Amino acid sequence: MYPSLFIHTVMLSASFAANAFGQSDISDPTTRAEFALSALQIFYNAGTGLWSTTGWWNSANALTIVANLAKVDGNQQLQSLASRLFANTLVQAPPQNPQPGVEGNHNKKREDLNDTLVIFNSTGAGSGYNKIMDNNDEVVTVYPEGWNKPTGAYIDVMQLPIYKTGEKAKIATADVNDWIDGFYDDDLWWALGWIAAYDVTQDKEYLTLAESIFAAVATTWGTNCGNGGIYWSWQKSYVNAIANELFLSTAAHLANRADDKASYVAWAKKEINWFTASGMINSRGTINDGLTSNCKNNNMTTWSYNQGVILGGLVELNRASPDDSYLALAAKIAKAAIAELSDDSGILHDKCEPSCGADGTQFKGIFVRNLQLLHEAAPDDAYVKFIQTNANSVWMNNRDDGNMLSIDWAGPFINPANASTHSSAMEALIAAITVK
Ligand SMILES: *[C@@H]1O[C@H](CO)[C@@H](O)[C@H](O)[C@H]1NC(C)=O
Ligand SMILES: *[C@@H]1O[C@H](CO)[C@@H](O)[C@H](O)[C@H]1NC(C)=O
Ligand SMILES: *[C@@H]1O[C@H](CO)[C@@H](O)[C@H](O)[C@H]1NC(C)=O
Ligand SMILES: *[C@@H]1O[C@H](CO)[C@@H](O)[C@H](O)[C@H]1NC(C)=O
Repeated sequence: MYPSLFIHTVMLSASFAANAFGQSDISDPTTRAEFALSALQIFYNAGTGLWSTTGWWNSANALTIVANLAKVDGNQQLQSLASRLFANTLVQAPPQNPQPGVEGNHNKKREDLNDTLVIFNSTGAGSGYNKIMDNNDEVVTVYPEGWNKPTGAYIDVMQLPIYKTGEKAKIATADVNDWIDGFYDDDLWWALGWIAAYDVTQDKEYLTLAESIFAAVATTWGTNCGNGGIYWSWQKSYVNAIANELFLSTAAHLANRADDKASYVAWAKKEINWFTASGMINSRGTINDGLTSNCKNNNMTTWSYNQGVILGGLVELNRASPDDSYLALAAKIAKAAIAELSDDSGILHDKCEPSCGADGTQFKGIFVRNLQLLHEAAPDDAYVKFIQTNANSVWMNNRDDGNMLSIDWAGPFINPANASTHSSAMEALIAAITVK
């Protein structure tokens, strides 16, 4: 499929965990997740710093997923791979941003495939990047033609030094415009990714970048709905759940890590107060996609990720500024979501399966990632059962001989898997490590 890439990454993954075939008998959650990481890295293109076969924001999630595995698996090779990977993505990915810095006031530009600069106008239009909702309430991200094709020379991640705090000069100084693209959910996925990289490495460079991304998005605060919350994008045409949940989660994560705790706690509280009053949480306790133009719940799909991001946000906010109501709300949403989105065997689904396009493929893992955080803060046997049931089904029913994971966690495996279906399903395997 990707011959040269394949060879490079097999070198990379072979030194990490031999990708032998047919591991149905493996029951140790950590070993399962390590095999899944080796498979994930087949998609990693060190020359772009992104995972091929998936989108810009999805790669922020793949980076978060590698970090989350590194947090629970002390394997030295894995730690080394993760640290190098973060440094490599920080340096290599900026030219791939499909619409850099549209929040700012300068001329926007992006490097084209042949290293020429593409300039687009003050509205961002002309960049070729957009997100639209299709007739099934599904987000469809449209990328510039030829986006995320390998550029430049191959770089072996394992040959890169591991950058440490204090060696700041060695990392290209991160420019916030490289990580924001006018769609505030994309921006905040990257902010959370860099926070996860900070958690693993304790390198302040990543934390500072996350703070800058958050600050850029925070300047957009205030919608036509009660003058609070944020829009989905610079287009100011849609107020949706995902962007606002990510705003909460990023603020709350920063409150527990960055210097200006009080300011981040204040942002997180402002967001959760606005969010709970907005009507996005329905009478069943699940969260719809967003609001109508006159600020009512639009009754659109309750995607799994919209039941997830808020959980991690509430857990982090409770840690920064304890209040029993935060974890109670999180538990209510988590249980309503498990009831609404699981099949009779307890397996999580999104309604777009099996054709979720380039975006919906990512959602389920995000729910499980955040449920894991809730379980750590407020343990519940129902979450353990849910996580183990889904992880076992992913491994036993939704995996091919090369340990690739596909879209439907109940199975059967649907060929081909891609970096999005795979990384998402891998999140169930990682969560299972923490509840074993
Ligand atoms: C490459 O560069 C030229 C300008 O020299 C430009 O017109 C073209 O669109 C660029 N992109 C690709 C994919 O060829
Ligand atoms: C920006 O570019 C798009 C497409 O190239 C064009 O339709 C639009 O009118 C331009 N807007 C401004 C303000 O120049
Ligand atoms: C919301 O959508 C569901 C189906 O997705 C439908 O059953 C329900 O009646 C709708 N509710 C409202 C208030 O429109
Ligand atoms: C990844 O796989 C899913 C499920 O098979 C598919 O719907 C999606 O379009 C694929 N993604 C890309 C970018 O091709």
